[in-house]
Amino acid sequence: MSNVTRPLAAVTGASSGIGFELAKQLARHGHDLLLVSRGDGLDAAERELRALGVKVWSHAADLRTAVGVEETYRFLRRQGRPLDVVVLNAGVGLGGAFVGQTRLEDEMALIQLNVMSTVHLAKLVLPDMVAAGRGRVRHRRYLHADRCGCGGAAAGRGGAGGDAQRGQGGEGRQAVTHRHRTRG
Ligand SMILES: NC(=O)c1ccc[n+]([C@@H]2O[C@H](COP(=O)([O-])OP(=O)(O)OC[C@H]3O[C@@H](n4cnc5c(N)ncnc54)[C@H](OP(=O)(O)O)[C@@H]3O)[C@@H](O)[C@H]2O)c1
Repeated sequence: MSNVTRPLAAVTGASSGIGFELAKQLARHGHDLLLVSRGDGLDAAERELRALGVKVWSHAADLRTAVGVEETYRFLRRQGRPLDVVVLNAGVGLGGAFVGQTRLEDEMALIQLNVMSTVHLAKLVLPDMVAAGRGRVRHRRYLHADRCGCGGAAAGRGGAGGDAQRGQGGEGRQAVTHRHRTRG
């Protein structure tokens, strides 16, 4: 398949973990890739994904900042190609009891990355997809009620990872994946 006809997918938090695995699945399904994370591991991820026979570009940005999100959006547009898939995956976890063990600044940084930056980037990329009449957005939300240290057992269960194209989920994970289509 020529790179002109190949669909284009962007993955945030693509240097490791779930994001990297989703990027691999997208590459195996014939997508060129745009990768975003803060930088550590980005080069290695880019090399490994390129070996799957697709084009890969990467961008280092700290998505906890509005500037990082806006730079990322400019990077996504720089290819001059419409995005077929955007995986809003960059995220961190935080262990420990809410009372006594975790620090407010860490919780705020988590919210900034896992929630605020996800909404911000979605707000930037979705209008382009709607205008193009194509594209899918996948994001994850974090359900960590069973890690709150408050003794409760209430935890959401859902699927994450797996096949980014078909939206199949893994089992027994706390990250729930949502897929939105702009049309059809
Ligand atoms: N693994 C699981 O089974 C699982 C299950 C449920 C929930 N989760 C949650 O899902 C999240 C991700 O899990 P994971 O296993 O994929 O973790 P991971 O391997 O640490 O991947 C996180 C990705 O996000 C990027 N990232 C982190 N901070 C960033 C920032 N400020 N700006 C841009 N990119 C950033 C990381 O790259 P850099 O650090 O280089 O920026 C990395 O690419 C965590 O919150 C975890 O608690 C994981």
